[in-house]
Amino acid sequence: MTNHINIVEVGPRDGLQNEQQAIDVATKVALIEQLADAGLKTVEAGAFVSPKWVPQMAASNEVLARVKRKEGVSYPVLTPNLKGYEGARAGGADTVAIFAAASESFSAKNINASIQESLARFQPVAEAAKADGVRLRGYVSCVLGCPYEGIIPVKDVVRVASALYEMGCYEISLGDTVGVGTPSQARDMIRAVAGEIPVAALAGHFHDTYGQALANIYAALEESVTTFDSSVSGLGGCPYAPGASGNVATEDVVYMLHGSGFKTGADLDALVRTSVWISEKLGRRPASKVTRAKTAATIQKM
Ligand code: HMG
Ligand code: MG
Repeated sequence: MTNHINIVEVGPRDGLQNEQQAIDVATKVALIEQLADAGLKTVEAGAFVSPKWVPQMAASNEVLARVKRKEGVSYPVLTPNLKGYEGARAGGADTVAIFAAASESFSAKNINASIQESLARFQPVAEAAKADGVRLRGYVSCVLGCPYEGIIPVKDVVRVASALYEMGCYEISLGDTVGVGTPSQARDMIRAVAGEIPVAALAGHFHDTYGQALANIYAALEESVTTFDSSVSGLGGCPYAPGASGNVATEDVVYMLHGSGFKTGADLDALVRTSVWISEKLGRRPASKVTRAKTAATIQKM
């Protein structure tokens, strides 16, 4: 196993996209800047999607325009189609992400297209990104289950992941959108996908609804996956995956990795401060167990 693990921080996008309360641009910008200052090298900054579908991401152009970019940090944004891509480019995005699903029902609910239609829609985005020298990331949702269809056959995950990889994605993030998967299921799914795509191009994206996310990450680490998506404070949820909780908390992932001999380049104390700060802004307790433990007076020295 390699010693360095890449964290893709998705809090400012996946974490905030489902928030019902208004969050101003200044808060989003400050969140992104704090996360980069905490040593994270990839901070997903927003989504150029339809504001009717995901109102919280409507000001992503302003967010991208105002973020002070840090050398060596990339700020991907989601782009479901060419319109989104053009918006992202106008905002100076260095990396864009296309997002498909392994489930037909989720694809229809999330992006109003069949899987095949969505791949056809992504093709011109991929071509434009290649021509412009913009890095292209790919997501596959519902890799371990779908809120509408239940179990998803692994072969469907492999097929969609391979299509995105062939389109030119440098990395395919495999999303347990509902957070239902278990370590053995995660391992089997990763083995199957890694049969077609180099494992170095795979990322794990685990939501924590059933409390399995860290265990799933560990199973993926054992399969040589070296990139994981996470969200500060465990923020999040997808508007089209009702009942799903947030992504695994970045602080919890970093604590587990550092304590297991891996390096991430992230400053755990800085992440905890950001977690507390954003949770206060949102008026809730951090979902991260590590942040809760480190801010509890009796055990904070550990
Ligand atoms: P549609 O309604 O079929 O699109 O939506 P359309 O082409 O018919 O256009 C309808 C309207 O949207 C038009 O405006 C377009 O201009 C506008 P109108 O003429 O009615 O005023 N429009 C746009 N506006 C801004 N930016 C755009 C854009 N495209 C069209 N890019 C569409 C199709 C894909 C646009 C829509 O379904 C959509 O935006 N969906 C995004 C849903 C989303 O963001 N979901 C959350 C992210 S996925 C996720 O969280 C999972 C992940 O984390 C991994 C995991 O956990 O598994 C990634
Ligand atoms: Mg997600």
